[in-house]
Amino acid sequence: MTLKGKKILLGMTGGIAAYKAAALARLLVKSGCDVRVVMTEAATRFVTPVTMQALTGQTVWTDLWDPRVADNMSHIELSRDRDLILIAPATANFLAKVAQGIGDDLLSTLVLARRCGLMVAPAMNVEMWENGATQRNLRVLRDDAIALAGPVAGDQACGETGMGRMMEPAAIAAEVEAWFQPKALAGKRVLVTAGPTEEKIDPVRVLTNSSSGKMGYAVARAAREAGASVTLISGPVSLETPVGVQRVNVRSAQQMFDAVKSAVKGNDIFISVAAVADWKVKKSSEQKIKKANGRAPSFELEENPDILAWVAAQKHAPFCVGFAAESEKLDQNAKAKRLRKGVPLIAANLAQNALGADDNAITLYDARGRHSLGRGLKLEQARKLVAHVAGMLQSKKKTR
Ligand code: C5P
Repeated sequence: MTLKGKKILLGMTGGIAAYKAAALARLLVKSGCDVRVVMTEAATRFVTPVTMQALTGQTVWTDLWDPRVADNMSHIELSRDRDLILIAPATANFLAKVAQGIGDDLLSTLVLARRCGLMVAPAMNVEMWENGATQRNLRVLRDDAIALAGPVAGDQACGETGMGRMMEPAAIAAEVEAWFQPKALAGKRVLVTAGPTEEKIDPVRVLTNSSSGKMGYAVARAAREAGASVTLISGPVSLETPVGVQRVNVRSAQQMFDAVKSAVKGNDIFISVAAVADWKVKKSSEQKIKKANGRAPSFELEENPDILAWVAAQKHAPFCVGFAAESEKLDQNAKAKRLRKGVPLIAANLAQNALGADDNAITLYDARGRHSLGRGLKLEQARKLVAHVAGMLQSKKKTR
């Protein structure tokens, strides 16, 4: 995670999810943030300031009238050097106060007097979440450009089930990281394919490619962080859907093709990261094929549709990005692939350097030549790719 040097004011309000905010504080500190904690009186009933002080290594603030702050201006001073105020957990009551501009304690006055951004991670019982007043307040928060991290649905501490659970600390930290990314694709719609496809041989056997899906998921996440609305068409992988991304699950190349065909209209960008199986078995068996006296079965294969080439050939095709995982001659193969597929940009890497790993070394090929992204985490490489695509779209607009 890259939150190095970011200055965050973590505001905690009175909900049982406050115990998760302790883990969140630890995570933010570990990722390089300077975390200053401010707690409401109710929050201190759930977790003590001592806990938060030990986790952040900083004084924890709870009192509007704390004489340790110069001129008694804690409601102003404590947020002035911050990049972001993050409220986690944010109770229904606190959201109502933010929506109405009420400042009746240290944290709510800090929010009111802030110059930096504000993100809230709501946490409450399902009925409180669904209450008309809360929903009305949320609309106000959205209109005021306040970022929302969650909530999510699931079991609640009160024993009920439904919407209102606070996001897990790692997901909130990812939302914070996303918040700091440049919004180079704001207002754009992006379609991404990821993962392998599986072609049925019989009910228990498949023909597939080695692909963890990590690069495609990183691209989907990076595009969403850049402000795009993102649909991810995914082959079978065991990865969590990036927050805010709409995911469609498929198995075979044909299913992926069908899903792309029905989703592609209206998209500005198509990024084809999936390792689509090049062939499928012409006639898969209805029943499991049995071993027969050491004789190996043979299958007739036929070619799968080339999804990327199909999208690129459409009349109002989105800006298309292809991926090329090569085992040798990266330059030569990537350049040839760009022309063959008819796409403006190819992201290429040596497969042996990237398969299943968390990092990668991508080189981009466009009409201007090659651009190395160096080596780094797949998410960092994905962010650089997204920035490059945004730049290409921008210069395309200028030359029109
Ligand atoms: O043809 P090749 O598999 O080398 O090309 C790789 C690029 O084409 C990737 O972007 C991949 O997602 C896409 N592709 C596709 N449909 C296929 C094969 C590859 O969209 N059937």
